[in-house]
Amino acid sequence: MSEYQSSNRQTWNHLADSGSLFARVATDEECQKPLKVLDGRGWLPPSVADLDVLCLASGGGWQSILYGVAGANVTVLDISESMLLLDDQEAKRRGLSIRTIQGSMDDLRMLDSSTFDIVHQPVSTCYIPDLVPMYAEIARVLRDDGIYISQHKQPTSLQISHRNERHQFVIGVEYYHQGPLPRQIDESYRESGATEYLHRLEDLVGGLARTGLILEDLREPVRANPKAPVTHYGYRGRFVAPYLRMKARRRPRSGDEQARASAIWTPE
Ligand SMILES: C[S@@+](CC[C@H](N)C(=O)[O-])C[C@H]1O[C@@H](n2cnc3c(N)ncnc32)[C@H](O)[C@@H]1O
Repeated sequence: MSEYQSSNRQTWNHLADSGSLFARVATDEECQKPLKVLDGRGWLPPSVADLDVLCLASGGGWQSILYGVAGANVTVLDISESMLLLDDQEAKRRGLSIRTIQGSMDDLRMLDSSTFDIVHQPVSTCYIPDLVPMYAEIARVLRDDGIYISQHKQPTSLQISHRNERHQFVIGVEYYHQGPLPRQIDESYRESGATEYLHRLEDLVGGLARTGLILEDLREPVRANPKAPVTHYGYRGRFVAPYLRMKARRRPRSGDEQARASAIWTPE
């Protein structure tokens, strides 16, 4: 396991074991209307029953359980065994069958090509240094016209290092920063102990478009709260949008691409 993988595995094991807000399973109330909770924008089809869904870097028993109760065939892949334990335990408790795989989002070789209708990825690309192999793997495992829904930390949010004495946010990290991000004084939207990377928009959005995925929508979830006290993350959200959410679709493979893929994958 690479250094970034083992550091993030440890961090997320710790977050899951200590009951973090980001390691919380879907509630009964959420399970009453799973698709609405998963997707307030209508990006998903009206039903996901019997569809094959990959919840990527998505341990913790939230996305997997919601897709599971909505009738999908769910696979969850995550680097943290403690996060995956939550999926396993909650699936068992609800009588759902969910496949869990411990692995890294940028190496999906244990999954066959063209086997998923939906790949759903919550905020997690900040934990890998290079998006190119990950996008290539997502494009490979999606079926033609399959949907890729993802959320990412915005680069500007990751550039903030601290606040000045007037509670203004200081951009202390260069946009072209390479390598793991330094620890910051302002830790909002950062997980302490994690090894995180800043991805520029040309990598987050352009990288996706360069990998056979067609962008259909892009949103910036609003985290601004005009009533929040200055120390709260809702105040920070008034100045810097923390996230980017995208819907993309797998471009149908050409005849040539299909031939190449089967040449690679068909045993001699
Ligand atoms: C923000 S959490 C997402 C899960 C949570 N269910 C949610 O709704 O927010 C990010 C996840 O990414 C996982 N992760 C970090 N690095 C990873 C990697 N290289 N490959 C796969 N998963 C990774 C963490 O273990 C964690 O479960």
